[in-house]
Amino acid sequence: MGSWKLVSLVLLFLSCSAVLSSADPGKSSTGFSFKDSFKIMPAQDHFRTSPDGQIWYLYLDKKAGGGFQTRDRYLFGWFSMKMKLVGGDSAGVVTAYYMCSDLGAGPKRDELDFEFLGNRTGQPYTIQTNVYQSGIGGREMRHSLWFDPTADFHTYSILWNRHRIVFYADRVPIRVYKNNGRKNDFFPTEKPMYMFSSIWDGDDWATRGGLEKTNWKKAPFVSSYKDYNVDGCRWEEPFPACVASTGEHWWDQSEAWVLADAQQEDFSWVGRNLVVYDYCKDTERYPELPEECNL
Ligand SMILES: *[C@@H]1O[C@H](CO)[C@@H](O)[C@H](O)[C@H]1NC(C)=O
Repeated sequence: MGSWKLVSLVLLFLSCSAVLSSADPGKSSTGFSFKDSFKIMPAQDHFRTSPDGQIWYLYLDKKAGGGFQTRDRYLFGWFSMKMKLVGGDSAGVVTAYYMCSDLGAGPKRDELDFEFLGNRTGQPYTIQTNVYQSGIGGREMRHSLWFDPTADFHTYSILWNRHRIVFYADRVPIRVYKNNGRKNDFFPTEKPMYMFSSIWDGDDWATRGGLEKTNWKKAPFVSSYKDYNVDGCRWEEPFPACVASTGEHWWDQSEAWVLADAQQEDFSWVGRNLVVYDYCKDTERYPELPEECNL
């Protein structure tokens, strides 16, 4: 009896230290290695993993948020992650999954964003997407979701090729942003991007325009990530194969330039039912709408 208790104590201690030691998740059965693929961003101690290394947690408290980013950059591809968002009283908390050409908020950066805006207990999350080119954004759309993103993991994906950027939730296209193929179109095609996951405090703007403040009594806020999946063109210096390889990959072929019929149906349904905000309809903000809105 006594020795069994000791064994379970030791086991308990081992599994706890695995949770707390973070940053060494080891290889998964598919050969994927977190360490080889990602770098942990400051604050490094706001990142942890499950004991088996398969789930990655980001923490937000009053001091700091957490994040991780790919070591590589990609020019076009399919980028997918399963995420479970902070539940309960999460107003002000922003969980993000995004691509960016810069490590900081550089003035000329290109960026593709998923931002999940927390809410008060029982109130629904909003998902915001945005596109930046050369440091200019302002292309926000906001959607409500048909599921509770805090109850379980769901898949969020970005398809990016020369023709379009598609944002997906569980393989349903919720937003299609097109390249109209004219000179000076607002559409990022030139800069390879890193992929980032992060959590931060956005209570100055995120929830009801900043009216709802983060409830720090509920900290730390924890978002969970797993099953990262990229199928893109990895950028290699000095000369990138990505530029020449048009058409070799499924995400770059004509099937990926348009939505399949079933996807089109889902997309229309989302458009009719779940759009909370569309910059292309915001004539108060844009007395003259950005050009792509008129096409
Ligand atoms: C929070 O919930 C309210 C009420 O349901 C809703 O109007 C709002 O869009 C939700 N999301 C955010 C980010 O405020």
